[in-house]
Amino acid sequence: MKGIILAGGNGTRLQPLTFVGSKQLVPVYDKPMIYYPLSILMLAGIRDVLFITRPAEAPVFMRLFRDGQSLGMRISYATQDEPRGIADAFRVGANYIGDEDCALILGDNLFHGADLPSLLRRSADRLKGCVLFGHIVSDPRHFGVAEIDERGRLVGIEEKPAQPRSSLAIPGLYFFDPGVVEIARRLTPSARGELEITDVLRAYLDEGRADLVWLGRGVTWLDAGTHDMLLEAAGFVRDVQQRQGVRIGCIEEIAMNMAFISADDCYRLGMEMSQSPYGQYVMECARSHRRLLALAESIDRS
Ligand code: TTP
Repeated sequence: MKGIILAGGNGTRLQPLTFVGSKQLVPVYDKPMIYYPLSILMLAGIRDVLFITRPAEAPVFMRLFRDGQSLGMRISYATQDEPRGIADAFRVGANYIGDEDCALILGDNLFHGADLPSLLRRSADRLKGCVLFGHIVSDPRHFGVAEIDERGRLVGIEEKPAQPRSSLAIPGLYFFDPGVVEIARRLTPSARGELEITDVLRAYLDEGRADLVWLGRGVTWLDAGTHDMLLEAAGFVRDVQQRQGVRIGCIEEIAMNMAFISADDCYRLGMEMSQSPYGQYVMECARSHRRLLALAESIDRS
């Protein structure tokens, strides 16, 4: 499965921050926002990723991730000259997707939860058309909302409903078969002038090929699109990291744990940032990984 990270948009709710750069490069505590969605794709086992950005910021993203080789990945770039809507990702990324399944994640969405990686991998393996996720929120009126029947099956999708039919908001993470490109080609812009992801999801639902997967209570989902949400996201990351001593969205550590790179590669990446606590953490992750490998080898030998 390939991955697309949609990281364009004008970020009007974050102005004036977004006058100087992309929303997705704004710091969320100790790392750029874009690290968080990238880490989720990596945890789902995806090594081939396309970033879609505004033209102006493409060079910054390229400087940050280059071709992805240092993370054991393949990273490509495309630009969206106007924010034509989330479903435009499948038009911009049509050639990239080709005949492969793909995951789409929005560049301002953060997820965290111990069970999430296995849930994502299971959902990707079971993909028949599209998978969307549902997460219970206290006020779903600002999101796409899943309408479900009494057995919890998906029967409808509403975009920012004034009177939501459920509390299940649909986060910005989806899996699709390659047919999504054709569906996106047929879309026409909505009343607000955008190619809507809900129209793509509805097309799959009409064909009976949309699966709703509930993200359990152990999963946190944040969409850092406003100043308050940005602060909330940073506070969440700091609290978890300080209490648990592990970092969220540390792409070097994830690349090593997913066996995309070796512990030595990870250590070298940490060394490049050794003046920062982040770099030191990456180096320590590599050291403890090496210790574990050595222990496993000595157990094997005995
Ligand atoms: P939004 O938050 O809907 O839009 P935005 O980022 O431009 O912000 P605002 O509403 O404050 O103006 O977008 C959600 C995510 O999708 C975000 O990461 C940006 C991305 N996006 C694109 O890359 N291209 C698009 O055409 C749209 C609509 C969104």
